[in-house]
Amino acid sequence: MQKRRKNIVLVGFMGSGKSTLGKQLAKKLSMTYVDMDLEIERNEAMSISEIFELHGEKYFRSLETEMLKSFRSKDTLVISTGGGAPCFNNNIDVINEVGDSVYLKVPNTELRNRLIVGKATRPLIAKMNETELMAFVDASVQKREEFYAQCKHTVNSSNITLQDILTVL
Ligand code: S3P
Repeated sequence: MQKRRKNIVLVGFMGSGKSTLGKQLAKKLSMTYVDMDLEIERNEAMSISEIFELHGEKYFRSLETEMLKSFRSKDTLVISTGGGAPCFNNNIDVINEVGDSVYLKVPNTELRNRLIVGKATRPLIAKMNETELMAFVDASVQKREEFYAQCKHTVNSSNITLQDILTVL
């Protein structure tokens, strides 16, 4: 099989499994894994929470846009985006330009269950209780769906596996 060169971009709400599956996918396809949140943290020498706190969300969104544009000159990457990345600054168009996008669509109740344990490092939800978190997930997914839905492929499951992604690519 000829080695795949075109980038793959994983998209989806917080807790949808972009990082875990992105790492597995990169390994399986011998591609290079890039986690946008981690890259931004490294570049800024600060956690995402600190960036939000010190510079605000708008600044963070501009960093995401800049980074997505930088992938135009790259190939053989598996990129995990941040959950909000496709939904600002026409980023979904850039995502579809730089690679084959895959939307990891996970039911809201499953997202909520995962985020209850993983909320501390995510500034948008860090201070929410379970009820607030469920309402936030429902409202945000509804708003973001129009962007997520523009991905080239969608995988829809409460437990997305590496095989599910390989099947759509
Ligand atoms: C965000 C998702 C996070 C991170 C930031 C904002 C969002 O990434 O980029 O906290 O707006 O949904 P993950 O989806 O990797 O948690």
